[in-house]
Amino acid sequence: MFRKKGSLILCSMFVFITWNAILVLLLRGRPAPGPSGVPGQEKGEVGQRPTNDVVGDVLRMADVFEAELELQKKILIQIKSHQSLWDPSNRNKQKVVAAPEPVIPILVIACNRVTVRRCLDKLLQHRPSAELYPIIVSQDCGHAETAEVIRSYGDKVIHLKQPNLSDVAVRPEHKKFQGYYKISRHYHWALNQVFKTLSHSSVVIVEDDLEVAPDFFEYFRSLLPLLKSDPSLWCVSAWNDNGRDGYVDPGKADVLYRTDFFPGLGWMLLGEVWEELEPKWPASFWDDWMRQPEQRRDRACIRPEVSRTLTFGRQGVSLGQFYDKYLRYIKLNAEFVPFTKLDLSYLKEETYRNNFEKEVYSAPVVTYEDVKQGQLKRPGPFRLQYSSKDSFKMLAKNLGIMDDLKSGVPRTGYRGVVSFMSRGRRIYLAPPPGWMKYDRTWS
Ligand code: UD1
Ligand code: MN
Repeated sequence: MFRKKGSLILCSMFVFITWNAILVLLLRGRPAPGPSGVPGQEKGEVGQRPTNDVVGDVLRMADVFEAELELQKKILIQIKSHQSLWDPSNRNKQKVVAAPEPVIPILVIACNRVTVRRCLDKLLQHRPSAELYPIIVSQDCGHAETAEVIRSYGDKVIHLKQPNLSDVAVRPEHKKFQGYYKISRHYHWALNQVFKTLSHSSVVIVEDDLEVAPDFFEYFRSLLPLLKSDPSLWCVSAWNDNGRDGYVDPGKADVLYRTDFFPGLGWMLLGEVWEELEPKWPASFWDDWMRQPEQRRDRACIRPEVSRTLTFGRQGVSLGQFYDKYLRYIKLNAEFVPFTKLDLSYLKEETYRNNFEKEVYSAPVVTYEDVKQGQLKRPGPFRLQYSSKDSFKMLAKNLGIMDDLKSGVPRTGYRGVVSFMSRGRRIYLAPPPGWMKYDRTWS
């Protein structure tokens, strides 16, 4: 397009110069108009030939041409000074400046809970842009009342309906897990809609019993470039499994971590990772399946110190297994952290790992009693060591952090270390120095 515009200008210039030359020649051949200025009055003189002072005529003509050429030169200089506007080599530079912000759709997984309203209201309340964050509500279960709630949002959300409402065929002893099979089938269908049908390249997945924090959108946007560029990461989660009041540092709402444990509960996934997982997507228990080493392949997720999601779904498929003990107490971040304006380079794998190991293993070792009785005088951090599955579980339980392991990885763990606050001190529940890998038999 720019190339065409360039040749058009050159062409116009040529026509312009030629036209001027013809005009000069014609004018030379015409007498000056009479005092009235009305050409018709000199009708009788039209066609009179110039005098026979040929040399004088040629000289005058040369003068006119000279003046004309001077004018053309000025025009050309002017055009040249505006060349940058149509030069094709400048096209890329202009593109970089105008690079559009990526679109990050929010996929809401819904079924039969009308309380999806609380989830949608909060998303809409905090969403900074409808164009950059389209909300896609995928509904399973065919529940009419819930469908009506979703429909009431009009074009503020895209309402998809999972078409297969039949029971999943399962072996008899798994009858009680029917719900987990349906959730898995729904995720499979909904993620295919997002990536394959709607052709998005990333997504943030939210369940219908989650409420989001004010900086939820800002958080994910700031981490998209890191997730895309760092192959040692495979997700960004808004959730801290040990994010209860008293277990996090409220003054550190801007601090983020790497974790080997897949947290879920408000998380970002890229199309490339979906392409890898989709062909082998499991029939049930999709989240624990993600936590297996075959899927995780040593990749980590980013998680915040203070959660950017809160779960209000006590009556879930897992029948509130953890709800009353832990989940309901998870603190939701309240203040807005401008993550997109912060330097997040400390999260890059090598930088992070080196600083982390230094920080954890240079912290003084303390005993469980020291921590529990609040006898730690210095500000910390402190290291509490575990050396077996049982000692991990015992310490975790007594300190009030989550004690379950999935495929050998403790919740929020990074290289075996769980970081949390206890009585105002930072504690690292850590394996002995020289940790190499997780033992998947620890569960
Ligand atoms: C738990 C997890 C959840 C995970 C699920 C599957 C927590 C707090 N929750 O579910 O993240 O996805 O196990 O392993 O750890 N749903 C359907 N179809 C159904 C039933 C439910 O799509 O037939 C949807 C719900 O709308 C919801 C999601 O699946 O968005 C999870 O269901 P829920 O009832 O909340 O189960 P949890 O026990 O929380
Ligand atoms: Mn739930």
